Amino acid sequence: MSRRDENPEEVEKVAAGEGFLDQTLRPASWDEYVGQEAIKNNLHILLSAAKERGNPPEHILFYGPPGLGKTTLAHLIAREVGANLRTTSGPAIERVGDLAALLSNLGPNDILFIDEIHRLGRAIEEVLYPAMESGVLNIILGKGPSARTLELPLPPFTLIAATTRVADLSAPLRSRFSGGVYRLEFYSEDDIAKIVERSAKILDVKVDKSGVREIAKRSRATPRTANYLLKRARDYAQLKRTGLTSEAVDAALGMLEVDELGLTPIDRKMLEVLIERFKGGPAGVNAIAAALGEEQATVAEVHEPFLLQLGLIERTPKGRVATRLAYEHLGKETPLRLL
Ligand SMILES: Nc1ncnc2c1ncn2[C@@H]1O[C@H](COP(=O)(O)OP(=O)(O)OP(=O)(O)O)[C@@H](O)[C@H]1O
Ligand SMILES: [Mg+2]
Repeated sequence: MSRRDENPEEVEKVAAGEGFLDQTLRPASWDEYVGQEAIKNNLHILLSAAKERGNPPEHILFYGPPGLGKTTLAHLIAREVGANLRTTSGPAIERVGDLAALLSNLGPNDILFIDEIHRLGRAIEEVLYPAMESGVLNIILGKGPSARTLELPLPPFTLIAATTRVADLSAPLRSRFSGGVYRLEFYSEDDIAKIVERSAKILDVKVDKSGVREIAKRSRATPRTANYLLKRARDYAQLKRTGLTSEAVDAALGMLEVDELGLTPIDRKMLEVLIERFKGGPAGVNAIAAALGEEQATVAEVHEPFLLQLGLIERTPKGRVATRLAYEHLGKETPLRLL
C-alpha cells in the first residue's frame, strides 16, 4: 500500500473501485443534499432562469477539498435540467483530439463534466476556450504556413468542472465559467450528523444518537469521510456484537487512529514536523511534504485545508505556522511567543 493510500478518503475511493460507496450514498435530490446553502441558492436562480429561457445553464466551476460534494452537485444539476451528463476528467484527456472527440459527440443541451480540470494541458485548454465562449470547435489542419483552421459549430452545452486545486487553474480558463465559480465549504457537525443518519438508513445500520454525534465530530467535516467512518464503525460493532454507541464508535475509530478532532496519523505528523523540524514555522507546503515523505498534492489538497479549518495551522506570506492549538493538541509545551 502506498503512503497516499493510507488516507481514508483515498482508501475509500480506491478500494471502492468506481466509488461504489459514493454512488450508493450519493444524494439523488436537492432535499437530500445537506448544507452548502449559498451554493444551492445561487444554483437555483441560475438553473431556473436558464430553464425559463430555454437555454442550457452557463458553465460552472466547483472547487474545494475532496469529498465535499462537487461531483454530486454536477449530477443534481443534470437531473434538474433534464440533461445528459457526460463524465470525464483532466488526466483522461491526454490529447487535443480526445477533447475534440468529446465535444463533437455532445448532443444539444448535454452537460460535460470534467473532474480534476486543473490537470488539463495548455494545448487542450486552448481548444476549450472557443468551445466555451462561442460554441465552436477549432480544428487546425496541416502545419506551418499552409495550416488552416476549421471551425465546427457545436450544439449548445454546459461545461461543469471540478477541482481540488483552483490555484492551479489558469486565469483565462477560470474566467470562462460564466455561470459561476463556487467554493464548497466544510460542513457543520449538525449537517454531517444528518448525512450520517441518512446513510445509516440506506445501509440498514442501527446507530444511536451518541454514535452519530461521535462520527460527525471525527469526520473532518467531510461527507465522504463520515460515510467511510460509519462503515468502519459498523464493521467493528458487528464483530464485537455491540450496538453502535458513542463508545463503540470511539473504540472503532481509535483502532483507525482517528483522534477526537478527526485527525489521522498523517495530519498529526504534519503538525509534529512543523513544530519540531521547522520550529513552528513558517514552512512551505513543499518543504513540509518532503519532510513527511508525502506527495505534495495530498498534503496541499487533503491535509492542509482541514488543519487550516480547525485553526491548527495558519497561512502566512512566508508559509504555514503552527498555532497554539496545535501545540496543545499534541501535548507539547507552547512557546512563549504564542502565549
Ligand atoms: N451535501 C451532501 N449531502 C449528503 N451527502 C453528501 C453531500 N456531499 C457529499 N455527500 C456524500 O459524499 C460523497 C462524496 O461526494 P462527492 O463525490 O460529490 O465529492 P467530491 O467533492 O466530488 O470529491 P472529489 O474531490 O474527491 O471528487 C457522496 O457520494 C455522498 O454520499
Ligand atoms: Mg468528485
